[in-house]
Amino acid sequence: MAKMEVKTSLLDDMIGVGDMVLLEPLNEDSFINNLKKRFDHSEVYTYIGSVVISINPYRPLPIYTPEKVEEYRNRNFYELSPHIFALSDEAYRSLRDQDKDQCILITGESGAGKTEASKLVMSYVAAVCGKGAEVNQVKEQLLQSNPVLEAFGNAKTVRNDNSSRFGKYMDIEFDFKGDPLGGVISNYLLEKSRVVKQPRGERNFHIFYQILSGASEDFLCKLKLERDFSRYNYLGLDSARVNGVDDAANFRTVRNAMQIVGFMDHETQSVFEVVAAVLKLGNIEFKPESRVNGLDESKIKDKNELKEICELTGIDQSVLERAFSFRTVEAKQEKVSTTLNVAQAYYARDALAKNLYSRLFSWLVTRINESIKAQTKVRKKVMGVLDIYGFEIFENADNSFEQFIINYCNEKLQQIFIELTLKEEQEEYIREGIEWTHIEYFNNAIICDLIENNQTGILAMLDEECLRPGTVTDDTFLEKLNQVCATHQHFESRMSKCSRFLNDTTLPHSCFRIQHYAGKVMYQVEGFVDKNNDLLYRDLSQAMWKASHSLIKALFPEGNPAKINLKRPPTAGSQFKASVATLMKNLQTKNPNYIRCIKPNDKKAAHIFNDALVCHQIRYLGLLENVRVRRAGYAFRQAYEPCLERYKMLCKQTWPHWRGPARTGVEVLFNELEIPEEEFSFGRSKIFIRNPRTLFKLEDLRKQRLEDLATLIEKIYRGWKCRTRFLLMKKSQIVIAAWFRRYAQQKKYQKIKSSAIIVQSYIRGWKARKLLRELKHQKRCNEAATIIAAYWHGTQVRREYRKFFRANAGRKIYEFTLQRLMQKYFLEMKKKMPSLSPIDKNWPARPYLFLDSTHKELKRIFHLWRCKKYRDQFTDQQKLIYEEKLEASELFKDKKALYPASVGQPFQGAYLEISKNPKYKKLKDAVDEKIIIAEVVNKINRANGKATSRIFLLTKNNVLLADQKSGNIKSEVPLGDVTKVSMSSQNDGFFAVHLKEGSGAASKGDFLLSSDHLIEMATKLYRTTLSQTKQKLNIEISDEFLVQFRQDKVCVKFIQGSQKNGNVPTCKRKNNRLLEVAVP
Ligand SMILES: Nc1ncnc2c1ncn2[C@@H]1O[C@H](COP(=O)(O)OP(=O)(O)OP(=O)(O)O)[C@@H](O)[C@H]1O
Ligand SMILES: [Mg+2]
Repeated sequence: MAKMEVKTSLLDDMIGVGDMVLLEPLNEDSFINNLKKRFDHSEVYTYIGSVVISINPYRPLPIYTPEKVEEYRNRNFYELSPHIFALSDEAYRSLRDQDKDQCILITGESGAGKTEASKLVMSYVAAVCGKGAEVNQVKEQLLQSNPVLEAFGNAKTVRNDNSSRFGKYMDIEFDFKGDPLGGVISNYLLEKSRVVKQPRGERNFHIFYQILSGASEDFLCKLKLERDFSRYNYLGLDSARVNGVDDAANFRTVRNAMQIVGFMDHETQSVFEVVAAVLKLGNIEFKPESRVNGLDESKIKDKNELKEICELTGIDQSVLERAFSFRTVEAKQEKVSTTLNVAQAYYARDALAKNLYSRLFSWLVTRINESIKAQTKVRKKVMGVLDIYGFEIFENADNSFEQFIINYCNEKLQQIFIELTLKEEQEEYIREGIEWTHIEYFNNAIICDLIENNQTGILAMLDEECLRPGTVTDDTFLEKLNQVCATHQHFESRMSKCSRFLNDTTLPHSCFRIQHYAGKVMYQVEGFVDKNNDLLYRDLSQAMWKASHSLIKALFPEGNPAKINLKRPPTAGSQFKASVATLMKNLQTKNPNYIRCIKPNDKKAAHIFNDALVCHQIRYLGLLENVRVRRAGYAFRQAYEPCLERYKMLCKQTWPHWRGPARTGVEVLFNELEIPEEEFSFGRSKIFIRNPRTLFKLEDLRKQRLEDLATLIEKIYRGWKCRTRFLLMKKSQIVIAAWFRRYAQQKKYQKIKSSAIIVQSYIRGWKARKLLRELKHQKRCNEAATIIAAYWHGTQVRREYRKFFRANAGRKIYEFTLQRLMQKYFLEMKKKMPSLSPIDKNWPARPYLFLDSTHKELKRIFHLWRCKKYRDQFTDQQKLIYEEKLEASELFKDKKALYPASVGQPFQGAYLEISKNPKYKKLKDAVDEKIIIAEVVNKINRANGKATSRIFLLTKNNVLLADQKSGNIKSEVPLGDVTKVSMSSQNDGFFAVHLKEGSGAASKGDFLLSSDHLIEMATKLYRTTLSQTKQKLNIEISDEFLVQFRQDKVCVKFIQGSQKNGNVPTCKRKNNRLLEVAVP
């Protein structure tokens, strides 16, 4: 989400005033109070116009986070509360967008937070400028140069645990896009005296302690060092350890930083070797030795240390030893060697150590520059950051040459500040078309002149003294000053010709005092000459040059005998003056941005605000002066747009929107508010307000109006909120109702729809079924027709093509098989044929079921055939017999129980051979016809049922009964008179011959006879009757029949008799009507 742009102003939620220009009334007390108030509220930054005052909070504040960086990024300087980031952003943007080179001048006394401020500026710029692998590497190198320089150039002092003991100016170079390209570092005046001696409570440079604490045993051994600090004379012992500082960890950081910056391993090694050599130099001690010629000489006490130094540096031990003992002065081809006494030897040793170290430091800066220098030749935009010691004023005249130099530098910075501020102010007035009114301010050019004037300046005096032949001491130098500068209004000295200070006891004789713009400073003249000379005996520099250690050799180029230069090297003072001049020149071409650092207390403690201390700093930093300059004309200025934007609510015409140009809007606004005309002035793009009072009045009005507006906005907002809520609810209600209606209708519709579908489906179903039925019927008809047609066609076709089709094969095979089977059957039957006897019951078994009927039929046929065959053999006689038998069978079979027994008996007919028996000659004669039957039968007496034997004869025409004994014919009945023959069904031979009523024979009644051959007799009687009368004789077979006895009809009844009379049936007359025959 895009961050909402909120137009804010420095004036919002101000604690005290954020810009001292607005301070009312303006005096030292109000100034300090304002700072204090802000400091107490953790507001460590305050503006004086575009200058940032920074008070060291001595504690980490949460105002340097990446979020803060983002907050200040691309915002106007006065938009947010004062911050070093606002200044950094302003500088960076005008560098990038307006192509103006910038410099950021950070000043303040030791421990005020300059170095921290410079790092904050750098880190801010690094965070907001371009990104990318290459750019990031450049940034990283620039940032990592800090820890390296701090290790070698910073030390713990009583005022600051990490005090920069050198001045640093760094140009950061950017391309047109604002991406960093590289940088150049310049260093100023390393406090090298610290190498050999540190004040109480202070330490040597950090690097010494870092090596001894952080290097591995191995590395220490290589450097011929021991971990114990107390082994080294150059290390002040009283505060070797600093609270909260981890030297070992810092050593690792430094090495890492060196690597990032681009130091090669061997370079790093050489650097540490030089550091080790410096440290060991301090351990070389001398003892006096008197010589014969009376001159004092010195001798190295213990040569072991010297030996190790020589091993480290690759210098011939004898060369170095000699350099510590002799001093060679060359003048005009003449070489004069003098011996050094112990003091001189110590001096030489310390000078060597100091030189070695300070040259190493310069070399480091050069080396870093080599690494970080921009790789391209394109035009660069430059942002310079100057972190240089501020004014130093020690109590008790402890100020020496160094302080003098430092204060000189600050004097110059103040001058450039005044110049540039005023210039800027003037330029702005001109730009804005506002009349320039002269501003009264103190111009410190006169003080600068006192120091740097080429003829009469203090530095020039000093140089003159140093170069002057003859005995030169600090006192002679002071004398000279007293002569030359006595009349200078900023110079004070007891001995000066001017009698002003003759009685000033606060000014010792060995001191002079300068009234710096920031206050008076008393300098102790002792050491000035020496320090300015910065003398290193040539023997030593030559010895150094002879070293095989390439770095050391490179540090002492003047030691090369081939380049011997008899001219004295430039003095420290003149060197510094020159470099300050270069720096000033450099700064003048740039747009300055100031950060004035203030130290709130001497205790390095948070939350303590020491008014006196701050007051002192405010004074010598000239901050009040600064405010005065800034508000000399007009205290406050603001572009028309933001001004109108901020105050437009104070006037009806401009609120809420002003349509015309902003300037007119502001005019209307100011008229409306009735602000006195002398209080403001209209510039081209800015409104200038003379008094902060006016601004505050505007602010108050605005505040009040904002409250009203807030109420209004709240009112409108609440109304709007309620309305929106109501509308939303209404809308929601409609939506809900719509949805509900829709839902209800949907449901109803679904119901109707489903009902309709059901009805529809039923109808459709019904219709469909009907249709289906019809269709089915039609289909069936079609199919039937088709089938009929198909069958018909089939038949036709089959008929036509039957012969071609295999369908016949089945039938044929079937028929063939059947034939074969039949054949086989018949053939086998032929073999198995039974005998031709008609009574043979044998018949082969049926081979196949399907031939069952055939088999039976065949059997029947065969039987018939065999019977026929059998019959065909018969003679006529036999035929006749069989005919009779057949007739008997037809008549009696299954009717008369006697019949079966008769079958096997041949019908003989003439059982009684009448012709042969002479007894029956008469009988025979009486019967001329052929006798068919002649047999003896029993005639049953009608009266008692007794049997009487009679001969029964049957001839062609008559039945005859004759007496057995006599052969007399008793009865003769023509066949035509025999009407019926009755007999029982049982196994008896009784039979009755019924005669025709009225016939002659019938008078005595019917005959009841019994014969053994009843069947034969009955059969022959029947046959004969049939052939004679052509009438069938009635044969009745019944167990009860009536017989005509004379007039009576008697019933003959056959009953089951007992067997006591044997097998012969018995006949008994029961009564008139009944004759009972018992058949066994
Ligand atoms: N903005 C800050 N926030 C928190 N602590 C700070 C800040 N500025 C400075 N300090 C603290 O104050 C100490 C001293 O600051 P710094 O080294 O920047 O002083 P200096 O002005 O460079 O002093 P010198 O002139 O001795 O080098 C720092 O080590 C740090 O502890
Ligand atoms: Mg510092």
